[in-house]
Amino acid sequence: MKADILLGLQWGDEGKGKIVDVLAPKYDIVARFQGGPNAGHTLEFDGHKHVLRSIPSGVFAGGSRVNVIGNGVVLDPVLFRAEAEQLEADGVDLHSILKISKKAHLIMPTHRLLDAAGERAKGASKIGTTGKGIGPTYTDKVSRRGLRIGDTVQPDFDARYQSARDAHIETLEAFGASPAGTPEFAAMEKEWLDAIEYLRGYDLIDSEHFVNKELDGGRSILCEGAQGTMLDVDFGSYPFVTSSNTVAAGACTGLGLAPGRIGRVYGIFKAYCTRVGSGPFPTELFDETGATIRNIGHEYGAVTGRERRCGWLDLVALRYAVMINGATHLIMMKSDVLDGFDTIKVCTAYRMPDGSITTDFPFSVGNNAEGAGIAEPIYEELPGWRTVLSSARSEEELPEAFRNYVAYIEQKLGVPVAVISVGPDREETIIRH
Ligand code: GDP
Ligand code: IMO
Ligand code: MG
Repeated sequence: MKADILLGLQWGDEGKGKIVDVLAPKYDIVARFQGGPNAGHTLEFDGHKHVLRSIPSGVFAGGSRVNVIGNGVVLDPVLFRAEAEQLEADGVDLHSILKISKKAHLIMPTHRLLDAAGERAKGASKIGTTGKGIGPTYTDKVSRRGLRIGDTVQPDFDARYQSARDAHIETLEAFGASPAGTPEFAAMEKEWLDAIEYLRGYDLIDSEHFVNKELDGGRSILCEGAQGTMLDVDFGSYPFVTSSNTVAAGACTGLGLAPGRIGRVYGIFKAYCTRVGSGPFPTELFDETGATIRNIGHEYGAVTGRERRCGWLDLVALRYAVMINGATHLIMMKSDVLDGFDTIKVCTAYRMPDGSITTDFPFSVGNNAEGAGIAEPIYEELPGWRTVLSSARSEEELPEAFRNYVAYIEQKLGVPVAVISVGPDREETIIRH
């Protein structure tokens, strides 16, 4: 058996949660491999909406399916507890279907404070993080001073926690933001330590052994990405990125799967682009069209409620993402949002400052937090379909102009579109291959 991966090809929020929930019945295991509560994955079915942050989107698929939080994830016990308790209130028996890697790193209360202090210090050039402590936690991981889930059951855990916390407080003091001795911090710390106790009640495992043995035994795995390729720490628009490898290779390191164990790579993208936070975004629309896409697509962050920046589909960035991930199948989301447009623009190349034209994603497409242009998008304009897509349940019901649009994208990217999503609900999905 091979493990399949589903990951974002753009700047996150492509609809990963929805499609993992749709595909989960085909898999025995769903596993998260990176990121943390910066993710907000929305699932809709039976008239209800659920937003998952750290817990895999396979938890509603029922059966004996196991969900795994892999070693590449960073977990905030307080947010995990709130999310888990909500799921249990919704009738999900999480304790019996969730396993957590002992090697996943812990987000501490001081990591969140460091995230906020770092952003404040950057001023206008801030990254616009989700404020969940993601950067500082991965920094500690790479600096070899992080705390892991497996440490919570060791006798010296309290001492190790205190020593890590004290080091963070020293750094916060340098930022002029020391929380030491305040009642607010004491309350945060107590809530965190209580949540650690709650976390100990879960099945904490050596997940690299688990996933490999399950594959050996013929069980199937779907690896669920968070964020998107253009937020990858190596290949995204650095430094306006997240702090993990969001690309397919991240599933290998974030779960302990050798490259040869990977099967399909599902790359998911919206029929347009969005971005939350700062950083370059060549096809961003500042006009009425951008506002229309935002309103029709409800483009507001699932975690922070922030307005998402909106723009036309960027095939230069998408082709790059397909290459980096080795996407074998594409999944196209939110096409229904473009139903009302007479024509639809697609960026096929960038004009660079020296006048040259490139279709290969360059080293830099913008040089500041607003992403002020280095790369100027060159567009092709395609006919719109001006038909309501959301009622379609089979390919035959899709209008010809839309099918031509899909064929155009497939031809430009050289990869087939296997799934088309025409609405937020589980049912509003067309599986082609
Ligand atoms: P994720 O982070 O990749 O899981 O994506 P988010 O959940 O943050 O954002 C996707 C948003 O689009 C959610 O509000 C979904 O309910 C919604 N959505 C997903 N697919 C579709 C679709 O095909 N059409 C429309 N209109 N909305 C969709
Ligand atoms: P999902 O999984 C969209 C963005 C933040 C910020 C940058 C760094 O729902 O697609 P961080 O808190 O990770 O240090 O922030 O990354 N970001 C996301 N944008 N969707 C996400 O997750 C994101 N997770 C982080 O807005 O620009
Ligand atoms: Mg999201």
